Amino acid sequence: MLEKISRSPEETIELGKKIGALLKEGDVIAFKGSMGAGKTTFTHGLAMGMGLGDEVYSPTFTLVNEYRGKMTLCHFDMYRIESAGDLETTGFYDYLSDGCVMAIEWSEKIIPFLPKNTIFITIEQIDENTRKITVEGDERFDFIGI
Ligand SMILES: Nc1ncnc2c1ncn2[C@@H]1O[C@H](COP(=O)(O)OP(=O)(O)OP(=O)(O)O)[C@@H](O)[C@H]1O
Ligand SMILES: [Mg+2]
Repeated sequence: MLEKISRSPEETIELGKKIGALLKEGDVIAFKGSMGAGKTTFTHGLAMGMGLGDEVYSPTFTLVNEYRGKMTLCHFDMYRIESAGDLETTGFYDYLSDGCVMAIEWSEKIIPFLPKNTIFITIEQIDENTRKITVEGDERFDFIGI
């Protein structure tokens, strides 16, 4: 497990970059955290760390955004997903079997459908600019905290 305190959006992006640089095909990242916690901000860092550029848009309306490069990042917002059928219509299973790196906001909505190897990233709001970020489910990232 990795635990980090972030004191600004920039620090959250920096941590995202470090984790993004360690990702491989088929990794699934499930975010837990309330509205405005920093899930999209963190994903911006993931995309940068994966070498996919410096622009990430919230998938609030599109439900999924794809960023293509050496690996593809599939960025989901599950806020409005209410059933297994809804989930299927997002293309979730197709993206999974294509080996996309999955970054899933509002993963709380699809917990039973997440694969066994899922990496959980919890972002807790401590105050306006402070976040506690916990990475669980894969020891690959633990050295970042040392
Ligand atoms: N330490 C921090 N880390 C991340 N974001 C921060 C931090 N401090 C302040 N913020 C602010 O919190 C907001 C985070 O917004 P973001 O869109 O990333 O949240 P979200 O979790 O994706 O929300 P939603 O559930 O609505 O999609 C931004 O306005 C950002 O500037
Ligand atoms: Mg978001």
